[in-house]
Amino acid sequence: MAHPEATPTAAADAPATKKYSGALRIWHWGNAAVIAGLLSTILFLKVIINMRGLLPKVQERLHEQGVEASKEQLRGIGGLVSHRIWDWHIYLGVTLAVLLGWRLVAELAAPTLQRFAHRLRRSKEHQQDAPAESFRLRHSVLVKYSYLLFYLMLTVMVVTGLILVYADDVEALHKIEHTVKEIHNVNMYLIIAFIVAHLGGVVWAELNKDKNITSDMIHGGEIRK
Ligand code: HEM
Ligand code: HEM
Repeated sequence: MAHPEATPTAAADAPATKKYSGALRIWHWGNAAVIAGLLSTILFLKVIINMRGLLPKVQERLHEQGVEASKEQLRGIGGLVSHRIWDWHIYLGVTLAVLLGWRLVAELAAPTLQRFAHRLRRSKEHQQDAPAESFRLRHSVLVKYSYLLFYLMLTVMVVTGLILVYADDVEALHKIEHTVKEIHNVNMYLIIAFIVAHLGGVVWAELNKDKNITSDMIHGGEIRK
């Protein structure tokens, strides 16, 4: 099958529709904001506040002022602060889970032209029809597969996160808590790697042949075929 750029008139004759549905765009930006929030909670807990590094300094400062506080007492107070941030992590985590459900419904409810499977199929066709054409990230099958990989990582993050939420209350979940935490932790680095590559790719595409792809993700863009 010929690609639209190979037969411009046929493509131009087809009726235009939004490339990305409203539901997908809301998901995309909502998901990006919530993930940024989740990563910020970890940044605060593990780096900016870093209770383990902070408590000896607090103890030293109190000592200078004539107040003696044991490590246990300080850990208790530090725990209050950490708890607040973990609460936010969980609120954002549950929001991420809801958004993942939203993404699934958006996919199932979308007309064929707006489905991910359609975009993947068109990329494959493009690669077959115009292999000699210079590389464009927008048409890259590899990029589409990276999205599939991301959806898998997102699912793992949500499932492991929800297990951690209920690990204290459900005996069976408590038993696997340690392993689940490890998976949750390692998966975070994979998600960060995706985000770095994705943002790098978007900037590269904008600077080269695919100007306006970001605005397409805002207003929906246009697709004819
Ligand atoms: C946490 C941050 C982000 C995540 C996890 C993320 C994830 C994704 C995913 C999964 C897709 C594929 C959607 C689909 O077709 O099903 C996508 C597409 C896209 N994203 Fe992001 N995104 C993030 C941030 C951003 C930002 C900040 C920008 C713009 C500056 C951006 C621009 C785009 C664009 C232009 C596309 C469409 C690219 C294409 O047609 O292949 N994303 N993003
Ligand atoms: C991009 C998304 C996410 C990132 C980057 C992330 C990151 C992390 C990290 C690094 C930890 C610390 C694990 C450890 O202590 O070894 C953690 C713990 C946790 N996460 Fe997530 N997480 C995400 C999504 C979620 C989701 C969707 C949920 C569930 C709704 C969730 C719930 C939890 C819970 C309950 C804990 C354990 C908190 C505790 O030890 O008290 N997370 N997360």
